[in-house]
Amino acid sequence: MMTKKSEATLKFEDKEVSLPVVIGTEGDKGLDISGLRKETGLVTIDPGFVNTASCFSQITYIDGEKGILRYRGIPIADLAEKATFVDVAYLLVHGALPSEKERMDFSMLLNRNSLLHEDMRHFFDSFPKGAHPMHILATMVNAMAAFYPNVDVNTTARNIEHSCARVISIVRTIAAFAYKKSIGEPIVYPRHDLSYCANFLNMMFDSPVRPYHISPEAVRLLNVLFIIHADHEQNCSTTAVRAIGSAQVNLYATIAAGISALSGPLHGGANQAVIEQLQMIHADGDLDKFIRKAKDKNDPFRLLGFGHRVYKAYDPRAEIVRNECEKYLAATGIHDPLLDLAHRIEDTVRKDSYFIDRHLYPNVDFYTGILYRAMGIPENMFTVMFALARLPGWVAHWREMISDNTKIVRPRQIYVGRTQQEVSDDLEHCAKLHLI
Ligand code: SDX
Repeated sequence: MMTKKSEATLKFEDKEVSLPVVIGTEGDKGLDISGLRKETGLVTIDPGFVNTASCFSQITYIDGEKGILRYRGIPIADLAEKATFVDVAYLLVHGALPSEKERMDFSMLLNRNSLLHEDMRHFFDSFPKGAHPMHILATMVNAMAAFYPNVDVNTTARNIEHSCARVISIVRTIAAFAYKKSIGEPIVYPRHDLSYCANFLNMMFDSPVRPYHISPEAVRLLNVLFIIHADHEQNCSTTAVRAIGSAQVNLYATIAAGISALSGPLHGGANQAVIEQLQMIHADGDLDKFIRKAKDKNDPFRLLGFGHRVYKAYDPRAEIVRNECEKYLAATGIHDPLLDLAHRIEDTVRKDSYFIDRHLYPNVDFYTGILYRAMGIPENMFTVMFALARLPGWVAHWREMISDNTKIVRPRQIYVGRTQQEVSDDLEHCAKLHLI
């Protein structure tokens, strides 16, 4: 999709250069500095890339000021209400919603690629009890390259197609197996007659002695939760996927890098950290104390589930999840005191100038843990749920990065260390040590 262009002038010392300005289809403007160093000797510095666009992308659009999120142009609320996660995975990876036949073929491909290699099952026996499932997931996904070769970027289109489906499907099986192993129950295999989300719930909760009733409401809710997490343009873990993938690393190692990045408490790990924080505040009883701590510059405490690098308005995903909390807990007759507390926190924050001035609203992680709890998902699996949902997004960006022949990611730096040192006595001393 071509972009419109404008230009900017940069004056520096005795130089004046004209730099192109690219304009995206939604009007976002970017100063193209690809020729900056050659023409001026300057590089830019932007820790955390707060002001830096790393690529052109057609996958997801976010307007952080207006709280807009669209996958391939379709608003997230419409997809959450009308599509399934498999539809959205197809949309992200292939660029359009599937026809009936395309959806059937894609579902078959996901099903055919849902079984984990039997030799990989034994890996689970080697993880220590209590190992966090995100570490297990990243390890197992990285190991997939040993069992399913032919996934480097130069392989055939058919191999790419199958490998992408395998990642989206098998990682779900690995997650459910990791949970079963963690509770000492026999693993439950995927079934060809169940949908993507129903299969996951069945693998998680079915048991030879306690048959699991697959509730349509739980399947609907899981589709919604997976859909709203499926992609979010150049977030930390997707940036990791694009950076690792730019070195032409195989798909599985690239996705394992995304899983590792997502596990951080400032990123996808926040959904588990939010619930732990709500439990702590609920047990303590003094909400005002924690609000004060969150506002205190000298206190590292942050109100997890609030704030966002891009959204300076309500995260549209948080709105969907908040509404689903009301719906699902009412439908299942569950009363969770943490939801009442979450509402109190949001109401308090929304009236407090510290949070208002910094545009700190609930993000996608603030309410999701309430729903996972209500569905019987254990807390240490919350971020795994985020990772499963984000797989199509990571795969879509990996494919886009490859089709764009992206250069290997290798940023510059501004060196602020010591200038050249004379050979010091220390070095002479080291040299002598080598002789011993
Ligand atoms: C995800 O990027 C994505 O798209 C990510 C994601 C996705 O789908 O992939 O949306 C998923 O990661 C959601 C975010 C989950 N993380 C959390 O909920 C952790 C809590 N939030 C913060 O750590 C923080 O808001 C971040 C990390 C989310 C964003 O950090 P930024 O953009 O670097 O913002 P900042 O740290 O510069 O904060 C700006 C100001 C600061 O105050 P001042 O120095 O200006 O006085 O806001 C304050 C911060 O101290 N602030 C908070 C706060 N978040 C920011 N103060 C209290 N509590 C918070 N949660």
